Amino acid sequence: MKRTVTKAIFPVAGLGTRFLPATKSVPKEIMTLVDRPLIQYAIDEARAAGIKEFIFVTSRGKSALEDYFDDSPILEQELRKKKKLDLLEELKRTTMDSGQIAYIRQHRAKGLGHAVACARRMIHNEPFAVILPDDVIAAETSCLAQMIEAYAETGGSMVAAMEVAPDRTSSYGILDVDSTDSQTSRVRGMVEKPEAGTAPSNLAVIGRYILSPKVMKHLTGLGAGAGGEIQLTDAIAREIDGDGVYGFRFEGQRYDCGSKAGFLQATVAFGLARPDLRDELSAFLSDLSLSGT
Ligand code: UTP
Repeated sequence: MKRTVTKAIFPVAGLGTRFLPATKSVPKEIMTLVDRPLIQYAIDEARAAGIKEFIFVTSRGKSALEDYFDDSPILEQELRKKKKLDLLEELKRTTMDSGQIAYIRQHRAKGLGHAVACARRMIHNEPFAVILPDDVIAAETSCLAQMIEAYAETGGSMVAAMEVAPDRTSSYGILDVDSTDSQTSRVRGMVEKPEAGTAPSNLAVIGRYILSPKVMKHLTGLGAGAGGEIQLTDAIAREIDGDGVYGFRFEGQRYDCGSKAGFLQATVAFGLARPDLRDELSAFLSDLSLSGT
């Protein structure tokens, strides 16, 4: 089995209920961190990892997402006329070449595993990446690029992993691993959203995966798991005794932009990382904390 990864699936068909009422008309993935939608961070990470084909699993109400990747000739013409060339370059970077991007519909939000399975006809007998755009990862080397390098050694399937507080394990897929201190560890077991006090560790799976095409086969016909949803974790777990599953502790800071607190934290962190905003924002934050608001 070859170990180069050139296709990535972006499941973006969820309902985004934690951000209602905003997500009634704005897809969660179009919400902006500073001045870029979440989806742009995910695309940049994938490009930096060498991904060439971008497969979006979308749903009703997500057309803003499809429009975002199109050419915008009128806007470009205006920016050119006004000599706003930096903005023009930035805008062009958002356009995806025709043929590089594909959209598949998930008609009902039956879970992440079901969303990934909707893209099965686009994945032939080759490994593929899955990126959840609401997990935004600030890292010197893109998280997916770190994983692809590690995967070249391991093969099998790989999930990004990070330690979470023991009282948060019931919100994640949790790993049982061979070794607790190495960056890449072989997985012995995984359980989706374990009940409080039953988690095998506090090593949680977050939204980056490199999967064997066999995982697609396992997804076909898989029944509902935790929360009544078709869970990607359940299909990956079937490879533990097959070609192997590896947990990879990436280097970088992950923000859970699917939750309000995580989204606000990411907004502050990405704002402070921007040279044009840093001074004004940090002055505002220290005024706020001094005034105790
Ligand atoms: P979440 O668990 O965050 O669900 O999905 P959600 O619907 O986006 O948001 P909440 O929980 O209602 O607020 C994780 C990822 O899986 C995708 C989502 O779009 C998100 O990128 N997903 C989830 C699907 O594509 N289809 C599904 O059926 C479920």
